[in-house]
Amino acid sequence: MYDLEVTQRHSMQSVIEAEICDLVTEFRTEIKSSNGTLTIRTTFILSVLNVLWCMIAGVRYAHDDPKLVKMLEKNFGMTKAQTFIDPVHSFPFLKKVFPKFLKTDYVSKVFEESHQYSQSLINERKMEGAYLQEPQNYIDCFLKKIEESKNDAKSVYTTENLQMMIEDFMQTGSTTSVGTLNYGVLFLTLNPKVQQRCQAEIDAVVPRHLVPTLDDIEKMPYFQATILETHRLGNIVPIPIPRVAPTNWTLRGYTIPKDTIIISNHYSVHMDEEYWGDPKTFRPDRFINDKGEFVQDKHVCQFGFGKRYCIGVTLTNSVIPIYIATLLQNFNFSVLPGTSPPTTDPELGVSLSPQEFSVHVTARP
Ligand code: HEM
Ligand SMILES: *[C@@H]1O[C@H](CO)[C@@H](O)[C@H](O)[C@H]1NC(C)=O
Ligand SMILES: *[C@@H]1O[C@H](CO)[C@@H](O)[C@H](O)[C@H]1NC(C)=O
Repeated sequence: MYDLEVTQRHSMQSVIEAEICDLVTEFRTEIKSSNGTLTIRTTFILSVLNVLWCMIAGVRYAHDDPKLVKMLEKNFGMTKAQTFIDPVHSFPFLKKVFPKFLKTDYVSKVFEESHQYSQSLINERKMEGAYLQEPQNYIDCFLKKIEESKNDAKSVYTTENLQMMIEDFMQTGSTTSVGTLNYGVLFLTLNPKVQQRCQAEIDAVVPRHLVPTLDDIEKMPYFQATILETHRLGNIVPIPIPRVAPTNWTLRGYTIPKDTIIISNHYSVHMDEEYWGDPKTFRPDRFINDKGEFVQDKHVCQFGFGKRYCIGVTLTNSVIPIYIATLLQNFNFSVLPGTSPPTTDPELGVSLSPQEFSVHVTARP
């Protein structure tokens, strides 16, 4: 269906390296032809999806694959079309009355396409056939589990669930990472001093011709603080997935009956004035102690809590810092001359991203 290039099994670092190197090359070409102007919205999506898809399905797309680009843009658009403040969630009958206005027609069409796509990925892996002996990626591992538990009627390892997982990954995994990267570029553009301090730290640890690794990044306290501050102030997932209380439960003297729907508010934690003092300010130094070390803070809860916290943490904590460090190694980002700074207000959706913005980019020698 799409022009797929099946890759060998790779370590996460080498997959990420290949993608970010391609992206840096693309940025260099683009800024040459645009006089240094780069417009950021879906810029990172293909690249990030390739990393994700390598882990999940072992496929890599050519960056200029037109069918893929179209599908991704739709997918990106779709997540933006749905929000938790969508009236349809409260009044489902509206869906039938105003399908066009509420974009439900569009959403169901994209869902159908996603469904066909996930099916084709599963078929690819089945045909390839290595999943029983030597599973290479997430789909392979899941297929193996399906095979091993085929006599267990209660097993959660079913083709239907695998398909749901792939579609969840497709919608949640790329938009959240893209939103975070977009905010990373935006905050660094708006805060040149932070940008310069990160660049100095990166340059001191990694030779210019090498892509930073996670080991390198551990030696960069201020840069790590900058990434955490991006998660905090970016608030990509301000209100995560609603959960249900599995049993009767008490919390700080409140009784929460079984089956209550619980919606947490991460935004209020990230923006709590009492705790942070200046929550609206982008200030990585809040995570640096007086010895100059980076200190994690549990009040940044971008991945959620408990048993059902985000399963994309390991991947995200590799992709985001490596991408941003590599970009800072290669480029300077600044507000376009003669324009006012872009807004940090988000474009609404289940997960947030900055509104489309343009930046001035210069290649560092
Ligand atoms: C900056 C990036 C990301 C952020 C901020 C983020 C945030 C979250 C949050 C807040 C939750 C809900 C946790 C809870 O209920 O306590 C979640 C769940 C989830 N995330 Fe992420 N996520 C990110 C990246 C990813 C990626 C890359 C993937 C795919 C590999 C992913 C897949 C999932 C899945 C499947 C769940 C549901 C887990 C479950 O219900 O057990 N996320 N994420
Ligand atoms: C939960 O609490 C309600 C009300 O107190 C009670 O009727 C019910 O039996 C309890 N359920 C369980 C599973 O403990
Ligand atoms: C990048 O920014 C630094 C610090 O502001 C500056 O010294 C350097 O000349 C800039 N490089 C380019 C290529 O714009």
